[in-house]
Amino acid sequence: MFNMRGRVALITGGSRGIGRAIAIRLAEHGMDIVVNYVRHRQDAQDTAAEVEKYGQRCLIIKANVAKENDVKAMFAIIAEEFGGVDVLVSNAASGVLKPVLELTERHWNWAMDINARALLSLVQFGLPLMKKNARVIAVSSLGSIRAIRNYTTVGASKAALESLVRHLAVELGPRGIRVNTVSAGAVDTDALKKFPNRDEILENALSRTPLGRLTTPEDVADVTLFLCSNLADMIQGQVVTVDGGYAIMG
Ligand SMILES: NC(=O)c1ccc[n+]([C@@H]2O[C@H](COP(=O)([O-])OP(=O)(O)OC[C@H]3O[C@@H](n4cnc5c(N)ncnc54)[C@H](OP(=O)(O)O)[C@@H]3O)[C@@H](O)[C@H]2O)c1
Repeated sequence: MFNMRGRVALITGGSRGIGRAIAIRLAEHGMDIVVNYVRHRQDAQDTAAEVEKYGQRCLIIKANVAKENDVKAMFAIIAEEFGGVDVLVSNAASGVLKPVLELTERHWNWAMDINARALLSLVQFGLPLMKKNARVIAVSSLGSIRAIRNYTTVGASKAALESLVRHLAVELGPRGIRVNTVSAGAVDTDALKKFPNRDEILENALSRTPLGRLTTPEDVADVTLFLCSNLADMIQGQVVTVDGGYAIMG
């Protein structure tokens, strides 16, 4: 069920954090990997080295997922190198963390473009390369349904992302393409270092998680692997939450 040999996965923002864990987990189960990044090439190279330890190919592509031309160029390279793509994980994200009244048009568009609209471009340009039974998986957060201090633009963009996933699931379903969201609780990656209230977020998440520990990048990668497998064939348009029960605590 988890033998993915011969399949190719693109992971946007696959160079570090959750994206890296997903790249490694999929490679461990036989997939060739495309790691996308935008600024930090060394991280992408480090991830590629991990992927290659499993005997899989790893292609590194610098592309800003918010720019249509970058996305188009990325798929042109993938077409040339691999001829197709079986799994698209839309994981890259960014955002300005500020109170609502300090947010500008630029902050709003930044988060929306990278975190939500990117998936639209990725699917539009990637679809010709996607095989039947392909998987599209968006990585989201509990901020899509919860109000979290300073998280407004990212939270709103994640809500848009999850809605986009549902609409894509309906349109791509008849082509045999599964489209779902994997949503995580607080995960201690570089992203959290940007939060002025990082310690409070982590302490709160830990104390309110029934399973008694924080969600790790590997937890998110495991569920992503499951969504790529035939075991998840009838899951379509859903948000699968990986948070040890954090979200159900009132
Ligand atoms: N950490 C959490 O608590 C948490 C919780 C729930 C969900 N998530 C979600 O999980 C995903 C990964 O988060 P993370 O914590 O692993 O983030 P992270 O450590 O900050 O890594 C972000 C990744 O995205 C890439 N990236 C950023 N902007 C990009 C752009 N415009 N184009 C292409 N790549 C771009 C970065 O590449 P460079 O290094 O080159 O900039 C990096 O590889 C995100 O969707 C996030 O919202 C995170």
